[in-house]
Amino acid sequence: MACWRTARSEARDPDRGVGRPVAASGIFAKKKTGGARAAGMTEKRGSSGRGQRDLKVRVKSAKGRRLSSTRWLERQLNDPYVKRAKAEGYRGRAAFKILELDDRFRFLVPGARVVDLGCAPGGWCQVAVKRVNALGEQSGKPVGRVLGIDLQEVEPMPGAEIHQLDFLEDGADDKLKGWLGGKADVVMSDMAAASSGHKQTDHLRIVALCEAAAQLAFDVLEEGGSFVAKVLAGGAEGELQKILKQRFEKVANVKPPASRSDSSEKFVVATGFRG
Ligand SMILES: C[S@@+](CC[C@H](N)C(=O)[O-])C[C@H]1O[C@@H](n2cnc3c(N)ncnc32)[C@H](O)[C@@H]1O
Repeated sequence: MACWRTARSEARDPDRGVGRPVAASGIFAKKKTGGARAAGMTEKRGSSGRGQRDLKVRVKSAKGRRLSSTRWLERQLNDPYVKRAKAEGYRGRAAFKILELDDRFRFLVPGARVVDLGCAPGGWCQVAVKRVNALGEQSGKPVGRVLGIDLQEVEPMPGAEIHQLDFLEDGADDKLKGWLGGKADVVMSDMAAASSGHKQTDHLRIVALCEAAAQLAFDVLEEGGSFVAKVLAGGAEGELQKILKQRFEKVANVKPPASRSDSSEKFVVATGFRG
């Protein structure tokens, strides 16, 4: 896998329209916060192996809270990307995945027309709005467009047009094409169905979402356009890869650093749509 530019160096690049630099550190606050206390948390010192002390927040199990919720809370509180998302004003840590993918493949350029499938709460849209110059903030550069859809309602965002839509319902792609009213340069999908708890079922569901997204991409992409989609490692995506390789010049399978190592998600990035 090619080398990733660090998020910190990226944050300094004014042309890429990313927020202010922040220290890259996984260290949580030195003192228990009020919220931490309320959640029954304790901190544990450990060694990161990088010459730094880590303070790990432990969340005690509580009556009425399931073990899975306790673990989720603990993971959130110890996740440096969650902290960075808050500090840099992103709606979620997922924003860093698309930042990292775009740093490597450069598909979000000023003037690009972007379709974002499964966009709630809006982290990918926020990144796209900046990078394609949807608000015209980069003077002298072409102004792009961001169109997002999700099953869930999404808080409005300047520079993005967002609709609530189930992408798998009959006629969804026609509705979307109507809103788009022309071609797109990028179709990206972070769609994921709610977990069933059964790995193989979840995998098949995500492949179905990815295939539907790819079908839309084949319909609306401009020649040379890009398709980015989340898939889960698991085997059933082989057919999709084969088709993508026929329709695009390059197809890469990548796991950006912001994608949790304990998750089987990865991203397919297909560039150079052949039409
Ligand atoms: C991981 S989240 C996306 C996060 C988003 N990229 C961001 O940066 O905020 C996955 C989203 O896919 C949406 N989704 C799942 N199935 C969908 C469908 N059939 N149609 C539209 N959205 C769907 C979910 O509602 C959820 O909001």
